[in-house]
Amino acid sequence: MENNISLDQASLSRRQLLNFLTGSTVAVVVGSALYPAAKFFTPPKEIGEGGAILAKDKLGNPIPASQILANPPGTRALVAGLAGEPTYLIVTDANTLDGRGIVDNCTHLGCTFPWNEMAEQFQCPCHGSRYDAEGSVVRGPANRPLKLVHVAVIDDAIWLSPWTEIDPRMGERPWWV
Ligand code: FES
Repeated sequence: MENNISLDQASLSRRQLLNFLTGSTVAVVVGSALYPAAKFFTPPKEIGEGGAILAKDKLGNPIPASQILANPPGTRALVAGLAGEPTYLIVTDANTLDGRGIVDNCTHLGCTFPWNEMAEQFQCPCHGSRYDAEGSVVRGPANRPLKLVHVAVIDDAIWLSPWTEIDPRMGERPWWV
């Protein structure tokens, strides 16, 4: 009787081992077959080096560069940027995205503002501050330029990262750092 139990146990263990090995093999084969499909359907990671994030549309979906570049040169397109701040991306004459994004946050008291294409200015509706196409102050009461962020396009994804270097418009350390 005891021998029978031992034999049963031994055969059970062999079965378990075989099941395990078969299962592992199937998992590896299926896994390798599905990897390319999974990679295709998996959205790109949303946090990059140096605190970079993907630019998103108003629904919170990553916005492809090609969608913005379908607009004519000179377009200022709004996206959700770093810390959710609305940020203008600029379509250049070469039909690329400018490496500088301009944060849509008036440096007077924080209102958002539209781009006035005719005047080629950002014009704040709250107290009348105006900024040129680069975000430098043209008219107060704002007395600081608009905040910049870096813009990089990789495989049609738009990455925004903090601007911590010299502000090229002022030639000095940015006020926001
Ligand atoms: Fe823009 Fe005051 S908040 S001018």
